[in-house]
Amino acid sequence: MKILIIGSGGREHAIAWKVAQSPRVEKIYCAPGNAGIEEYAECVAIGAMEFDRLAAFAKEKAIDLTVVGMDDPLVGGIVDVFEAQGLRVFGPRKNAAILEGSKAFSKDLMKKYGIPTAAYENFTDADAALAYLETAKLPIVLKADGLALGKGVLICNTLEEARAGVKEIMQDKKFGDAGNCVVIEEFVTGREVSVLSYVDGKTIKPMTSAQDHKRAGDGDTGLNTGGMGTFSPSPFYTKEINEFCQKHIYQPTVDAMAAEGRPFQGIIFFGLMLTADGPKVLEYNARFGDPEAQVVLPRMKTDIIDVFEACIDGTLDTIDLEFEDNAAVCVVLASDGYPVHYEKGLKIEGLDAFSGKDGYYVFHAGTAKKDGAIVTNGGRVLGVTATGSDLKAARANAYQAVDWISFANKYYRHDIGKAIDEA
Ligand code: AMP
Ligand code: GLY
Repeated sequence: MKILIIGSGGREHAIAWKVAQSPRVEKIYCAPGNAGIEEYAECVAIGAMEFDRLAAFAKEKAIDLTVVGMDDPLVGGIVDVFEAQGLRVFGPRKNAAILEGSKAFSKDLMKKYGIPTAAYENFTDADAALAYLETAKLPIVLKADGLALGKGVLICNTLEEARAGVKEIMQDKKFGDAGNCVVIEEFVTGREVSVLSYVDGKTIKPMTSAQDHKRAGDGDTGLNTGGMGTFSPSPFYTKEINEFCQKHIYQPTVDAMAAEGRPFQGIIFFGLMLTADGPKVLEYNARFGDPEAQVVLPRMKTDIIDVFEACIDGTLDTIDLEFEDNAAVCVVLASDGYPVHYEKGLKIEGLDAFSGKDGYYVFHAGTAKKDGAIVTNGGRVLGVTATGSDLKAARANAYQAVDWISFANKYYRHDIGKAIDEA
C-alpha cells in the first residue's frame, strides 16, 4: 500500500515509524513532514491546510490511505474533501472533529448525555461572562472555545486574573476567533491521564494510557506548552478506572456522537482528571496526542494499518488491539525560552547514536536540514523516547538517551515521570 501522512511534528514522526513497521506498506509520503520523518517517508512540500493540493497529490500518486495527524486540517474538514473525491482517509469528518474544534460543543454534549465532566457555563458575551465571575468559586478555569495550540486554557486564582482572562480571550482576541465563545469551568483536582482510542463510528477500543507534562518547567511550573514529556502506562489508571470509563465515558461519547448524526471515525483522545468523585473529562481531542503518540505507538503490537482500515470500514470489533507489557518515557528536548522566544537554526549533534538501538527513539518535532546538517527549527525540537521493562527502567533509559543529543540551547524537564515514584 501507499500511505500519505499529513502533519509535521513528533506525533507524525511516530505515526510514520509505526506505519513503516507494517508489512502491508510499500511507500510512505508525508506532507509537509520534517527532517526526521524523511527516514521513513518521502516528504512533499504541501501544507496541511492545502486540501485541494493534497487531494490532487493523493490521486496522482494513487495513495491507498491518507492518515491525518493534526487537528487543524481535521477541524477544517480535510476528510470531507478527500471523501468527496473518492479517496480513502483516516480521521473524523468535519461534523465529528467538532468534538475537539469547539469546547462549548463538547461540554454541551457531555451535559446532554450525562458524561462526567467539570461543571461549566458557555458565554458569547464578555459582559455576561464578567458578571458570572463575580459569584464564581476560585480558582476558576477559562477556555477559549476553538483551537488555540493547546494554549487557550487559563487557570485563574483570583477574580482579577479571571477578569483579565476574559478580556484577553474575548475582547483582545488573543487566540483569534477561537475566543468568540468562552467556557468558564469549575477547577477540579486529581491525577491527569490521557487515553487515546480508536473509533469506527460505533465501536471504541482504548489504547494504553499515558500522562503528559504540560508546564514548561520542573515541578509543573512555568507556562503551559504543547507537552514537555510523557510516560505510558499511567500507574494511576487502574483496571477499575478503565472499566468505569468504558461504561460511563468512552462508549457514551461514541454513542452520543452517533445519536447527534455526527458518527466519529478516527482517534478520540480523552483528557481525563481522576478526581475524588471519579474520572471526569477535561477535554476531547480528535487525533493522537503529541507527545502521547511518542510513548503509546512504540508499545502498540497490532498492525496499525489494519486498525486504521477497521475504523474506516466499521469493523473495529473484529480487531484484537494489543500493547506490549512494558513501559515507555518520552522527554521533549526544546529550545530554551519555549514557549515564548527562542532561537532556531542551531546544529543538532548525536542523532546517529540512536541508530540500531532497540527500544530507543528520537522523534523529530521541530527540525530542518541546513547545509547537510540537521538544525533546530521550532520550540519543541525532538522527543527522546525509550522503552523499558517497567516505568522506572524506561525513565532511566530515556534520560540516558537525552545525553546523547546536543544543541546550543537544549532545554528539557528533569522530572518527566517523577509521579511514577508516588504510585
Ligand atoms: P485542556 O487543553 O482542556 O486539556 O487544558 C489544559 C490543561 O489545563 C489540562 O491538562 C489541565 O492541566 C488544566 N485544566 C483544564 N481544565 C481544568 C479544570 N477544569 N480543572 C483543573 N485543571 C484544568
Ligand atoms: N499532549 C496534548 C495534546 O496533544 O493535545
